[in-house]
Amino acid sequence: MRTRRSGRLFSGAVTARTYFIRTYGCQMNEHDSERAAGVLETMGYRPADDVESADLVLFNTCAIRENADQKLYGHLSQLKPLKLADPDRQVVVGGCLAQKDQDVIAQKAPWIDVVYGTHNLGHLPALLVQADSAALPVVEIVEQTEAFPSALPARREVRHHAWVSISIGCDNTCAFCIVPSLRGREKSRRMGDILAEVRGLVADGVCEITLLGQNVNSYGRDLVRSGDVASPGARNRTLFAELLHALGDVDGLERIRFTSPHPKDFTSDVFTAMRDIPSVCEHLHLPLQSGSNDVLRRMQRSYRARRFLDLVEEARATIAGVAISTDIIVGFPGETEDDFEQTLEVTRSAAFDSAFTFEYSRRPGTTAVDLDGHLDPAVVNVRYRRLAQLTRELAGASNARQVGTVQQLLIEGPSKTDAQRFSGRTRTNRLVHVEQHPAAHAGGVVHATLDEAASFYLLGTVTDAPLDAPVGTPPPRTRAAV
Ligand code: 5AD
Ligand code: SF4
Repeated sequence: MRTRRSGRLFSGAVTARTYFIRTYGCQMNEHDSERAAGVLETMGYRPADDVESADLVLFNTCAIRENADQKLYGHLSQLKPLKLADPDRQVVVGGCLAQKDQDVIAQKAPWIDVVYGTHNLGHLPALLVQADSAALPVVEIVEQTEAFPSALPARREVRHHAWVSISIGCDNTCAFCIVPSLRGREKSRRMGDILAEVRGLVADGVCEITLLGQNVNSYGRDLVRSGDVASPGARNRTLFAELLHALGDVDGLERIRFTSPHPKDFTSDVFTAMRDIPSVCEHLHLPLQSGSNDVLRRMQRSYRARRFLDLVEEARATIAGVAISTDIIVGFPGETEDDFEQTLEVTRSAAFDSAFTFEYSRRPGTTAVDLDGHLDPAVVNVRYRRLAQLTRELAGASNARQVGTVQQLLIEGPSKTDAQRFSGRTRTNRLVHVEQHPAAHAGGVVHATLDEAASFYLLGTVTDAPLDAPVGTPPPRTRAAV
């Protein structure tokens, strides 16, 4: 039996208990952490400055690659002595890895209080109460939700930006990916609910939103299937493009971003929406995963390299100055040297403005685990470094093309590496550091001349000069490999 907790008493005053959240993984998880913070704050908890001083520590976990597991178990073992010294401290593990490995977590760390899955955040208050009188971790995992869960309060880290979930779950079956088994079938949120949330956020000072979904451009298909909404066929637009147009009409909303679309579901109406709606930013994140048709087939990604490059070309031709980023996995089972060379070739042709590159990670529960031809990690690592080198060069060249232009920056806050500077993002999502300036504060919008480029950032100077258009990357040059 654990002791029932209350606020600590100092000179007769009750101080609120404090919480600290450590987030692993993707933007979906960052948003879930904001919601966990919102839930805890409605229970009276207040933010702590660090893990050590927090009365409640919540780990919002990720399962996508093995190193996320290792990080979690490392952090849990660091916390164990603190918990044992002060049993009143609460430790909670939630999110994707909790959904996948609840038993392993409870076994490895029987001293924690609560384990909850990807659909259970709304029950956190009740689980914490149950944990007060339980000897072992209280575990709650459900496999599936029937509809998009009702909105939970979110405590946003910054005032000017908000994540907005438009769907949860995923109906695809990419062989490497654990997500569909953890986040369930795709459930879209009603457009009216999304618009109402966004209007409320704008009234609260938000000027930039990022729409979140595992596969944003299949948004709404489940709603049409279930008869909840009429197909937008009459206007010849997908529901995702409809949503972008509706959001484009929200006054005061200056920047709209979204992540991630799937190449197989990409339609031209989304490119034209990106071109025609001033608030939709000129940035497209389009995951390639591999440039080899053979590997794409074994990954169960139903587009081919040629189709991918056609999309890149259409994006660059339609949206002036668009920046394109991607995700690429190296070392998928059976990947030959020739397959890998094709990935390099497509990467060069697409001339990505930035890229997230990953070594394939074996995830029990995915179909790729049972494929033949798992590679020696040393071979994978050499390929990974070759690809990372190429994507770094491409990113550097893309940034260098911006030098001398004046771009709009939305300031995020002080630079993480240099206290003398502030950091902001261009509409194309390039990171720019500027010297301190009265207008350079979190949420401030400035014009900056871009003076110097590196692979992952630019240096700029705040200016009164008018804006230039972003400089796009030349369209794909070669189709030799595809
Ligand atoms: N191994 C390596 N990378 C992966 N990703 C997803 N699953 C795996 C895996 N098993 C990458 C994909 C995806 C990004 C979010 O993570 O590139 O787009
Ligand atoms: Fe995000 Fe996927 Fe990691 Fe879950 S497993 S946190 S959905 S990247």
